Amino acid sequence: MTENRAFGRILDRANRADPYPLYAELRKTPVTLQEDGSYVVSTYREIVALLHDPRISSDRRNLDESFAAREPGVSGQPPAFIALDPPDHDRLRRLAMRHFGPPGTPDRVESMRPELAAIVTGLIDALAGRERADLVETVAYPFPVTVICRLLGVPREDEPKFHGWSTEIVETIGPGEDDMAERQRRRDRATGALGDYLGDLADARLGDPGDDLLSGLLAGGGEQGGMSRAEVVTTATLLLVAGHETTVNLIANGMLTLLRHPETLERLRHEPDLVYGTVEELLRYEPPVHFPATRVALDDITVGDTTIPRGAPIVLALAAGNRDPDYVSAPERFDPCREANQHLGFGGGIHYCFGAPLARLETQVALGELARRLRNPRAVADPPPYRPSSSLRGPRRLVVDFDGVR
Ligand code: HEM
Repeated sequence: MTENRAFGRILDRANRADPYPLYAELRKTPVTLQEDGSYVVSTYREIVALLHDPRISSDRRNLDESFAAREPGVSGQPPAFIALDPPDHDRLRRLAMRHFGPPGTPDRVESMRPELAAIVTGLIDALAGRERADLVETVAYPFPVTVICRLLGVPREDEPKFHGWSTEIVETIGPGEDDMAERQRRRDRATGALGDYLGDLADARLGDPGDDLLSGLLAGGGEQGGMSRAEVVTTATLLLVAGHETTVNLIANGMLTLLRHPETLERLRHEPDLVYGTVEELLRYEPPVHFPATRVALDDITVGDTTIPRGAPIVLALAAGNRDPDYVSAPERFDPCREANQHLGFGGGIHYCFGAPLARLETQVALGELARRLRNPRAVADPPPYRPSSSLRGPRRLVVDFDGVR
């Protein structure tokens, strides 16, 4: 394995605005060993193979029993299903899916379209009379937060309470510049605090159920084969965080990309159906999730000419795979009409994004309406300032000037 130093520079905040040339450098070595002993995989075919390989695990405790004894989980609670392997992963994901929509169909989500459009309309109406706004603060963030709060039955006005914990959780996901163990401790603390908040909410809901997801998860628990209280809490924590911290970035990355491609922005105003291909291409070209949670090898795994040893952490560089020229032609070109777009924006395999139908719909509605209603929008700063995380990448602010709203 030849030496490849691109990954360290990708983690460097100074390169957050444009890591793509570094991904091209990283892909020259499909598997790179880092100083901390982790292996970074950056080419499309190899990432897809690993996402479907039962020898990679999302739960270090499955490495050996001593790990299981040492790491009982946050505050003694079970990890959420994103951090579990089968069979527990499959059981909990299936139970959560049951309340989220009919199995295998996005109908429940599709039926939310008018409600989602009304939320976005309200947020854009509030921009009337202004000629400058931060689109993260005014649309990209409040929109998915409102949606996931309504779905879960979390009071929207509690957002200032859970915002800090949620931010801490996402900023410590995946690899970072600081120590891995310290990141894990910070994440555990924030997850525990958010779990306590949602646990109190769940207890209140138990005596007074509504038609929200939290009540649904609680129903049929215990002996009837549903989730335990602890499992409800960790699942609700996962859904609350995953349900908005990623979508905000797709909407913001998307709007920035459209501002850089004014011809597509203009076409969207007259061809609303172009938004479907636009969102798929954004999931490839400017995805929010660059590195999902680090996996561990349960066995020696040979990838190309490298053997990843049992016990080694594995980082899957999804955003690098998305621009692999061996998988897609002209990968550096933003093309909303691209066909057969099998991007890695939602991951793959058993952990494929649970919320993909909702995330797609939210982003289609938000970008469609922003394109239609903002008159002549221009980015005030390009590149804008970015959030610190290299794993969940997106602008912290996206300030635009515009000539009013339609
Ligand atoms: C998993 C991306 C929105 C819930 C994932 C994964 C990715 C992803 C890449 C795989 C993680 C892994 O392999 O470790 C995104 C993006 C979104 C988005 C780009 C927005 C644009 C949502 C929403 C929800 C959600 C709205 C909830 C309503 C989840 C859950 C998992 C997951 C629960 C774990 C699935 C499992 O472990 O089986 N997401 N997501 N996501 N996502 Fe999303």
